[in-house]
Amino acid sequence: MSIKEYFAEGKRVVDQAIDELLPGEKEFPESIHRSMRYSALAGGKRLRPILLMAAAEAVGGDRQKVLPFAVAAELIHAYTLIHDDLPALDDDDLRRGKPTNHKVFGEAIAILAGDALLTKAFHLMTHSGLMHSVPADVVLKAANEMAHAVGSAGTIGGQVVDIESEGKTIDPETLEYIHVYKTGFLIRICVRTGAMLGGAKPESLAALSRYGAHIGLAFQIVDDILDIVADEKELGKDVGSDLERGKATYPALYGLEESRKKAQLLVEESISCLESFDERADPLRDIAQFFVQRTY
Ligand code: IPE
Ligand code: IPE
Ligand code: MG
Ligand code: MG
Ligand code: MG
Repeated sequence: MSIKEYFAEGKRVVDQAIDELLPGEKEFPESIHRSMRYSALAGGKRLRPILLMAAAEAVGGDRQKVLPFAVAAELIHAYTLIHDDLPALDDDDLRRGKPTNHKVFGEAIAILAGDALLTKAFHLMTHSGLMHSVPADVVLKAANEMAHAVGSAGTIGGQVVDIESEGKTIDPETLEYIHVYKTGFLIRICVRTGAMLGGAKPESLAALSRYGAHIGLAFQIVDDILDIVADEKELGKDVGSDLERGKATYPALYGLEESRKKAQLLVEESISCLESFDERADPLRDIAQFFVQRTY
């Protein structure tokens, strides 16, 4: 299977599972369920759940068994995007080629839809169905690590420093903090929890965690680059948004060429973390390459 087919298949499986696991649009109160489904089913590359399932398979696990957990990771991602686009944060109008959630449903419902997607994610991660296929203590540990990674010691911490750094010149350490925390942590924890749920041994888990940390940072560096060079239609979000808001980005501090080199280096390092893995880790190798080659 080519990587293109691998992504298409992963996206199909994830889209269908989200559709089945979220409350229907007709369920009361309809507005919140419409809003949740609008953002969670609006497209998107589905990279985090695909990574989570690929990590499980790289250690001999079964993608079907980790699917609810993978969906949970995507719902957390969807919630961060809804809140990230709010006027109080990045104030963006376009996401995945469609008007942002608050533009359609208003700010109050957008905030609440984000809250509901985040809590739905923990509902799914701790659902008893998952414990039938994976030992309960492993599920609990994975959910616990996910909670830590997306809170104030992870994603939210990064978002806070991102917002507080707008319009300022910041040092390289602070910039790395923002990128690792706001984006890298969720990507790393998807790889890590996928491996845990797939039954990884400690050495494999450690190697995959390093892989995830490298690609996580690379992913946000490329996101910054695309905010400058991408085609808006293909990217599906407002190009030039970072410059407009005076965001702390890699291109702003290092320039485009140097930023590209840094991302490429991180991806090479990530692939070298997979040396002891067999061909079942090939999708992880291909995903890492996609992280720097992508144009959307
Ligand atoms: C965008 O993530 C937000 C960042 C953390 C950079 P993606 O580029 O994965 O967005 P979708 O899910 O494909 O829309
Ligand atoms: C997003 O970073 C990080 C999170 C949503 C946690 P950005 O603000 O750069 O993401 P985009 O460019 O709006 O997708
Ligand atoms: Mg942002
Ligand atoms: Mg943003
Ligand atoms: Mg961005």
